[in-house]
Amino acid sequence: MSILEEQIKQLAKLILDSKNIVALTGAGMSTESGIADFRSPGTGLWEKVDPYEYASIDSYIAHPTKNLEFMLETGKAIFSARPNKGHKALTKLQKLSKLKGVLTQNIDRLHHKAKTKNIVEFHGNVMEAKCLHCGEVFLITNMINQVLQGRSPSCIICNGMLKPNAIFFGEPLESETLRAADEMIVDCDLLIVLGSSLVVYPVAFYPQKALSLGAKLAIINIQETDMDSLAEVVIHEKIGEMFPKNVTIIEKKGYNYLKQ
Ligand SMILES: NC(=O)c1ccc[n+]([C@@H]2O[C@H](COP(=O)([O-])OP(=O)(O)OC[C@H]3O[C@@H](n4cnc5c(N)ncnc54)[C@H](O)[C@@H]3O)[C@@H](O)[C@H]2O)c1
Ligand SMILES: [Zn+2]
Repeated sequence: MSILEEQIKQLAKLILDSKNIVALTGAGMSTESGIADFRSPGTGLWEKVDPYEYASIDSYIAHPTKNLEFMLETGKAIFSARPNKGHKALTKLQKLSKLKGVLTQNIDRLHHKAKTKNIVEFHGNVMEAKCLHCGEVFLITNMINQVLQGRSPSCIICNGMLKPNAIFFGEPLESETLRAADEMIVDCDLLIVLGSSLVVYPVAFYPQKALSLGAKLAIINIQETDMDSLAEVVIHEKIGEMFPKNVTIIEKKGYNYLKQ
């Protein structure tokens, strides 16, 4: 048996032995849907632009037009993206009553589009716009239409400045979101990290939090992460090529497969 087959079996066994699985997903979850991540060598977005110039709250407030032009350009891939095999495999795992929910760093809403339930979006999403003054949330199309007409996007209620409802550099995560994430992992027995470099905090604390609460850790990520040594299983392959295999084992073969 190859090392990879052995790893797939190990992860299948972990999933079969667990009842309350939580997935922690990052930008690597969506690269197979055509959305670039931030840190993959050669293709990561931050190799091309400076994040603090284009995606920080200070630069947005100082130069909204420049930032919005960049966001509209990069956002095109997100608006038209469809869930990939990895997203669909998570939904299937949930239908098999194994997956409790998803903690995601992604802002692309692809878990929602794949009809997975119980999703915590650490960094918000770009399908909505939020007023920086009164906090009202609108559909992003409302904001895009204003930008396309050459206006600076403003709230129809209070005239405050609108921004995409995603967390920018320099903005804190919402306490409600962190509370929901903490609740999700309290009785989690297996945390599966899918496509995250685990360098963005506070999200990168969650594997350790889950471990300290008694959960086991599994990771599927092309590149190594600092948490690899803490995981029971680490698979350095593409999620869409590996994870559906695991879910098929759970669905069709169960423990019998492990005896082969
Ligand atoms: N799709 C999105 O919504 C999107 C896209 C880019 C960035 N972001 C934001 O960027 C931040 C970056 O942190 P991060 O850890 O999520 O991303 P990251 O870019 O830091 O890391 C992504 C990791 O995924 C791996 N990867 C890429 N494609 C993969 C695949 N097909 N299968 C397995 N692994 C794969 C890479 O090796 C890399 O280690 C997040 O906070 C997120 O909000 C989101
Ligand atoms: Zn407002």
